Amino acid sequence: MNNLPDTPSPPLAPAVDADALTVVRGPRTVLRHLRFTVPRGRITGLLGPSGCGKSTLIRSIVGTQAKVTGTLNVLGRPAGHPTLRSRIGYVTQAPSVYDDLTVRQNLDYFAAILDPGRAAAERRHQHVTRAIADVDLTRHADTLAGNLSGGQRGRVSLAVALLGTPDLLVLDEPTVGLDPVLRRDLWNLFHDLAAGRGATLLVSSHVMDEAERCDQLLLMREGEILADGTPDALRTRTGTDTVEAAFLTLVDQAAGADRTKESTR
Ligand SMILES: Nc1ncnc2c1ncn2[C@@H]1O[C@H](COP(=O)(O)OP(=O)(O)OP(=O)(O)O)[C@@H](O)[C@H]1O
Ligand SMILES: [Mg+2]
Repeated sequence: MNNLPDTPSPPLAPAVDADALTVVRGPRTVLRHLRFTVPRGRITGLLGPSGCGKSTLIRSIVGTQAKVTGTLNVLGRPAGHPTLRSRIGYVTQAPSVYDDLTVRQNLDYFAAILDPGRAAAERRHQHVTRAIADVDLTRHADTLAGNLSGGQRGRVSLAVALLGTPDLLVLDEPTVGLDPVLRRDLWNLFHDLAAGRGATLLVSSHVMDEAERCDQLLLMREGEILADGTPDALRTRTGTDTVEAAFLTLVDQAAGADRTKESTR
């Protein structure tokens, strides 16, 4: 035994760390000087109205957005670094599945891209079966994707993103158009992935009641981060009962600050 005092293990570096992050699309600056972090092993909600820049921010993090400036580190590497490809699962806002393939064939196809070769066949089979079960589509494994409901097709996309057992899962509005039961089941799955497997999730939504299900929030408005923190902290800070009311209070405060700036120009 040594006499050294117990040194707490250093806190894990955030999964995403951004500073002065700016994105120009066409003639417009759609993200302006963002500074934020996304903690590891948690669910962070990216909330804000349509057009505020959620998808642009997500595309920057997964490395598919052009004209990104500032600092953006993801899992300790600059966003877009080739080694991040297998560590990030990304579900786009529009489900990207082949309608003329069955659920299992869709997953087999993407699994073969992720983990090619004859020797990996058994491993791929296990990963595909698990991903289909994760999103509760086992009963529909042999159904053509084109014959599924909208919510079921969305879950095939999610299963594809889960295939590689990613450290970071980025989901752009995954619950749009889902009924309340499916939404609840998906959120339970998200919590299992974070708490059970230690995955980091970044989930965008413009439905404020989903914010209450997140560990951490980034509230966006017009290309800026309006506030961040836990749902509790945001409610307390604004003296409100719901994240929706907190968001509206923060929007009003920001609009008031904008007016003050303009009138003193
Ligand atoms: N090619 C482009 N040229 C100019 N502006 C663009 C271009 N693409 C997107 N934008 C603008 O960028 C802003 C952010 O778009 P983004 O898709 O990131 O918003 P969002 O928050 O994901 O919206 P939604 O909730 O509707 O999906 C929008 O105001 C949009 O009009
Ligand atoms: Mg979007």
